[in-house]
Amino acid sequence: MDSIIVTGGKELSGEIPIAGAKNACLALMPATLLSEEPLTLTNAPRLSDIKTMTELLASLGAEASALADGQVLAMSSHNIDNHVADYEIVRKMRASNLVLGPMLARLGQAVVSLPGGCAIGARPMDLHIQGLTALGAEIELKDGYLHAKAPKGLKGAVYEMGFASVGATENIVMAATLAKGTTVLKNAAREPEIVDLVSCLKKMGAHIDGEGTSTITIEGVDRLHGATHPVVTDRIELGTYMLAPVIAGGEVECIGGRLDLVEAFVEKLDAAGVSVEETARGLKVSRKNGRLSAVDVTTAPFPGFPTDLQAQMMAMLCTADGTSVLEEKIFENRFMHAPELMRMGANIDVQGGKAIVTGVEQLKGAPVMATDLRASVSLILAGLAAKGDTQVNRVYHLDRGYEHLVRKLSGVGAQVERVPGS
Ligand code: EPZ
Repeated sequence: MDSIIVTGGKELSGEIPIAGAKNACLALMPATLLSEEPLTLTNAPRLSDIKTMTELLASLGAEASALADGQVLAMSSHNIDNHVADYEIVRKMRASNLVLGPMLARLGQAVVSLPGGCAIGARPMDLHIQGLTALGAEIELKDGYLHAKAPKGLKGAVYEMGFASVGATENIVMAATLAKGTTVLKNAAREPEIVDLVSCLKKMGAHIDGEGTSTITIEGVDRLHGATHPVVTDRIELGTYMLAPVIAGGEVECIGGRLDLVEAFVEKLDAAGVSVEETARGLKVSRKNGRLSAVDVTTAPFPGFPTDLQAQMMAMLCTADGTSVLEEKIFENRFMHAPELMRMGANIDVQGGKAIVTGVEQLKGAPVMATDLRASVSLILAGLAAKGDTQVNRVYHLDRGYEHLVRKLSGVGAQVERVPGS
């Protein structure tokens, strides 16, 4: 397994291009199952998770090919001949469960392995199941697989989610596009990735209103047609790279960055003493002056502070002046980066869903272990300003969500090197 070695102490300057959003692309790709006509995605990120989704779609009989060095995904599900999403693929990537809604809508049946837990939590699918059942699907769990069928097709319904689940919103909205009648989804997730999915579905002929609000209304149609759609900018990659100059010093312009995608995050950066300037090409970021100040952060569904930026924010707060309280309210086990940051000298006290971070002057480089995608990148960020070398092991986690990370950070002056695993 490869490692990445970061040598701290280099101030950063220059530009980092921000890619298309992993979590939008992973919802957009299954949408191809809703139509016999081709769906083409541009501005797609080059990530291992996208390859996994491509594999999954191919296993169902869809064609999915990556063109233009992976930035264009040309897909067609003209001949889906298999409705079983295999455990071997699903266990690698939870987002595989997003083929459930589209397959049910198009084929009237689907067999999808339950993803099982992952490092950050149990990741149940009860809200997906309740929502699709409300649309008339019959779903039962057998041998770890969800067996779903809708022999008479899906019927529009009113369904209020117990929690604003991103994935459940995506599955239910996609299924509802081909249901008979109107579906009203209440307490829907409001993430930009949902808005992007709906924008694509509308290009395919879906009748949907309310995306980005807590109530989404879908008028079912008989069929959807093909489309070409650009994947929205990745707000989590954006937030991650915005923290690089904040932690290492200097100034970086994140090309393609949009302020509207990261408002809650930028509010916290501003309070901590970070300057974020909108430019014609993106967002320019630097420290306002001297040492950063501690801030408290609580994660919440969009438009609240994103859970996917919690680990990266913690890396920044490890050397801020004062004590910060980070509260993780979305996942039950998302502080695995804390013990690794403590190996670098951070002062963090984890108490259940809260992490109390008392800033220290400087972290010290150390060998650390990546455990999940966002925890891994928080260790890279911490290494940018640590004294000496930080070796982050098991970086395959990073390849899931950060394309060309070493190239992007080296391009602004960081001393970062990928070392092939033994
Ligand atoms: C999406 O996961 C993202 N993944 C996650 O990003 C992100 O952290 C999460 O949304 C929250 O923003 C993709 O979009 C591929 P949820 P998802 O359903 O859809 C509970 C990353 O790092 N829940 O909103 O799985 C669940 O256990 C990844 O890029 C139920 O209880 O998130 C969790 O505690 C990590 N029952 C909370 O809701 C359900 O049926 C949020 O889950 C579904 C979810």
